[in-house]
This record gives sequence, structure tokens and C-alpha cells, in this order.
Amino acid sequence: MKTFNDTSESDRLNQTAASSESQNVYLTISSPGLLDTLTFRPIPRQKPGVGEVEIEVSATGLNFKEVLLALGLVPVPNDFNFKFGLECVGKITALGEGVESLAIGDEVIAFGTSCFSRFITTSAQLVASKPAHLSLEEAATIPVAFVTAYYALIKLGKLRQGERILIHSAAGGVGMAAVQIAQWIGAEIFATAGNDEKREFLRSLGIQQVMDSRSLTFADEVMKRTEGKGVDVVLNSLGGEFIAKSLAVLGRYGRFLEIGQRDILNNSQLGLQPFEKRLSFFAIQVEPELPNFSELWREVVKHFNNKNFTPLPHQVFPISEIVRAFEYMTAAKHIGKIVISWQDKREVEVEKNNVLTSPSPQFFAKALPIKFIENGLLPSEGINVFRRILESKLPQVLVSTRDLTTLIARHNSDSILSFSETGEKANLSQAIHPRPELSNAYIPPLNELEETIANIWQKFLGVKQVGIYDNFFELGGHSLLATQVIAQMRLAIKMDLPLSILFDAPTIAEISQYIEKIRLTTKKFQAPINTELDDRMEIEL
Ligand SMILES: NC(=O)c1ccc[n+]([C@@H]2O[C@H](COP(=O)([O-])OP(=O)(O)OC[C@H]3O[C@@H](n4cnc5c(N)ncnc54)[C@H](OP(=O)(O)O)[C@@H]3O)[C@@H](O)[C@H]2O)c1
Repeated sequence: MKTFNDTSESDRLNQTAASSESQNVYLTISSPGLLDTLTFRPIPRQKPGVGEVEIEVSATGLNFKEVLLALGLVPVPNDFNFKFGLECVGKITALGEGVESLAIGDEVIAFGTSCFSRFITTSAQLVASKPAHLSLEEAATIPVAFVTAYYALIKLGKLRQGERILIHSAAGGVGMAAVQIAQWIGAEIFATAGNDEKREFLRSLGIQQVMDSRSLTFADEVMKRTEGKGVDVVLNSLGGEFIAKSLAVLGRYGRFLEIGQRDILNNSQLGLQPFEKRLSFFAIQVEPELPNFSELWREVVKHFNNKNFTPLPHQVFPISEIVRAFEYMTAAKHIGKIVISWQDKREVEVEKNNVLTSPSPQFFAKALPIKFIENGLLPSEGINVFRRILESKLPQVLVSTRDLTTLIARHNSDSILSFSETGEKANLSQAIHPRPELSNAYIPPLNELEETIANIWQKFLGVKQVGIYDNFFELGGHSLLATQVIAQMRLAIKMDLPLSILFDAPTIAEISQYIEKIRLTTKKFQAPINTELDDRMEIEL
């Protein structure tokens, strides 16, 4: 298979020219944690090999896993060519040898590895004809969400008519697909979701048992509503204590379908006692390597052709607003899928200094004299930067070859200045506004630790009062702020909090609990970062 590295150096240099509609690009991130550094870089179109096809992409589905990667909560593989995009819809533009079931011009839905591209080349096994009655954007809601839910519920969970299923975060992509499949089967659905709007939406679909996905009270509610019998199947993507609580609501011969990866990779511990009820636990990872993946994919598409399933509700963002799409999913307010449309291809801004990211020595030899002086640091400047970083006691250091003033102006983000070399505290000039209306009541900090955290949040979020049960993201927090808030919390409490803390524990009460637990167990004021997880995680489907 031809890769980026196989292209001639002159090809590469040509790609640094301004973007044009025919130029292929891929989406990557230069600084995970800063969504603003999501960047399109040029890449040659790849002639399809045996059994492959080339697709011109029209719409791409966004997945939560990719957002976690972009936020730096799952480490981006150590690869300067890392590419986002797991699923897309488009038109076949070239066929490799041996591909007979598809033709040039066919509209198709596909799995791929770089679907935030104008053109992708992928195995024909991962491509299916788009059902004619679906629009391009509608079809883009199907692949990952439906294949995951179908494989989990039908193939592994063997969900049957009349059985009860608990679907966590049911208003999201996989969750909504699972709701449809469960309704098609004729199962009774118990659903959770993170806010009132989502819960109302789920009720509007005829689901009567709707609960909160951010509170453990769901377990008691399920047991109460089923008169102690529990459910037959659980589809879970929530972590931590939600796993044990969700296992506990399974009745005899229940099936637990785990699609979250974090606790598995983290080697979280789980008591075996619930399995006395003859439970089954399925650790699910849907990926093309899965035996019979192609058949599974075709089976799902057949259900759309037969109109058993319909596309998911979705919100479309133009490709020029890719960062906003990632931010929108970070805030977890979406219902169904987020789809990115490539209809106006001219709007893609291609990073022009991309050559600095390609480490071929021959290439550097040619490009150094011009490009490094134009866009990069001179060796003496690099040494100077390193010296200053090593001397600095700052929690975060930002080194940029770009014009930071413009960046800051663009995002109106004075907070970037908070880690300036003066070491001054946050220079947050954003307006202080009242606490937004939230579904939970305002409960003030109850101890010194909660007070410390609340002060940091108030400063960074520009919110007058932060209650201990207020969700960071509902208060207007986003990934950019999250990384900075975590840095400040680490300093204030002298503990190495993991970067994922605000996602795992988005309220002050939860974070304080976490901190107290660590303090108790370590008896020191320092918690180890779980680097084991970081090293082992990688993006798959
Ligand atoms: N194993 C597999 O093969 C596989 C395949 C696809 C997806 N997945 C997993 O399935 C889950 C759903 O994926 P998706 O792409 O369809 O995403 P999604 O459900 O559309 O969005 C993620 C949802 O997670 C919920 N959530 C819970 N805690 C959160 C937090 N602290 N911050 C932000 N959101 C939080 C939110 O829903 P509520 O607020 O309503 O709870 C949010 O809408 C993800 O965990 C994903 O990694 C696994």
C-alpha cells in the first residue's frame, strides 16, 4: 500500500502550495488538548490497490472517541501522520483490481481511517452502497453507531422481544442506534441521558423509563420500576462506579454489553459476586478485524434498505467549522450524531507549514534553508526555548512558531496569557456572569478543598458562583479551559490530577471525593498518574 512516506520529495514540496479543491487533505492535531490545533494537512490521493476503492468524501461522522483523542484524554498514537475520521459517505472515484460489486460514481457509505479527507482509499469490504432514499448526511449517521449497537444488542446480547434493556447515554450516537434496534426488536427500554432536553427527547420516542446518566440513582430507580426483577441487558459506556451499579441491575441470565474502554484498559477492579446470577459480560470493540465484519456491516445496511432502521437525528457542521463540531461534542449537548459536510470544499484551510511535521531526512535537507527560516525556529532559538522551559516552573509552556497574537485575538481567549512568562496568575478579562440556570440547585462549597476548586472554576469560567454539584461543561467549560483548570488545580492542591479528571468527575463534589480518596490511600499529597493506560490506548473504531 502506498503511504505518505513513499511520495517523492518534489511531490511533498508541491503540496505546500495553497490549497485547491483537487488537493487532498487529512485532519490531524498538533497539540492534543487544544482543539484549536486541529489542522488540515495536504496528502496525495492514494491509488486504490487490489480490493480497494477511492471515495470522494461528501460527509463524515464524528465520534466521541475522536473527541477524546483531540482533547488529549486518550493519547494520540505517536505518529506525525495521525489522521481523524472513522466513517464517511461519498462517491466512488476509482476502483482497485478485483472490485466488481461497486462502480465509479456509486454513492457509498464507508468505514476508513482518514475520513476527514477529500479523498480516501479503503477496502471495498468496508464499503456499502448508500440506500437511495437517504441523503448523504443521513447516511453518514449510520456506520459506527449502528454497527456497534447492532453487534452488541443482536449478535452478542441476543436481545429478544419483551426483554428489558438499560441503555446508558441513550441520546448519543450509539445510544440512539441502540434505542432504534431495541424498539425494532420489541424490547422494553430503560434509558439514561445527561440533561433534561435529552431526557425529554427520549420520552418523545415513547420511552417511559428515562433517568439521569450522571447520577447513580438510576440503579435504585430501575429496581423500583421493575419490582426488583432488574433488566435482561445493559448497554454501557459509562465508567467507574456506573459499571458495578449497572451490573447490579441485571436480572438472572443478564447480559452486560460494555462498549467503554477506559475501565478495561485501566484494569479497574470488579467484584464477581453479581455473576452468581449467571451473568455474561461482553467487552466490545467494533473494528474491521472483527470476524465477519463485512457481513455484519452489510446486514446493518440491509435493514436500512428494508426500512427497518432510520438515520439518526443529527446536526450538520460545514467542514470549515470542524473545530466547532469537536467543541460541540465535547459539551455533550448533542442528540444523535454530529455530521461534517464537505459540500463547500473550498473552505478548507490547509496548513501551509506542514512540511515541518514530515521527518524524512532527505526532505529536511531540501526544505530546511527556506521553510525553517519562514515558519520554524532557528537552531539557536530552539536551544534558547529549551533552556527557558527547563528553567521555568510554569505548569504549562506554549511554544509556537505561529503568531500567537492573532490566535488569541481569533479566540478572544485571554486565558492563554495566564501562563505567560511573568508567572502571573490567570489574567482573565472575560466578563463575570451569573451562574446559568442548571437542573441542579446551587450548593456552596462545604470545605476548604471544595472552596479552592470552586475559586479556580469561578475564575476560569467567569461564573460568579459555582456550586459543588454544577457540571463543568454545563457551566460553559470546554477542552481549552479544562486543560488550564486542571493545571491550576494541580498547583493548588499539589496533586498530579489526570487530564481526564474533568470528564470522569465533572463536578466539584466528585473531584473532591476523588482527591480525598487518593489522599487517604496514598497518605501523601501526591497521586500517581496512570501512565500505563496512556501507553496502551490507541484509537480503533
Ligand atoms: N467499543 C466500541 O466498539 C465503541 C464504538 C463506538 C463508540 N463507543 C463508545 O460508546 C460511547 C458513545 O459513543 P458515541 O460516539 O455514540 O458518542 P455520544 O454518545 O454521541 O456522545 C458521548 C456521550 O457520552 C456521555 N457522557 C457521559 N459522561 C460524559 C462526560 N463526562 N463528558 C462528556 N460526555 C459524557 C454524554 O451523554 P449523556 O450526557 O447523555 O450521558 C455524551 O453525549 C463512547 O464512550 C464511545 O467511546 C465504543
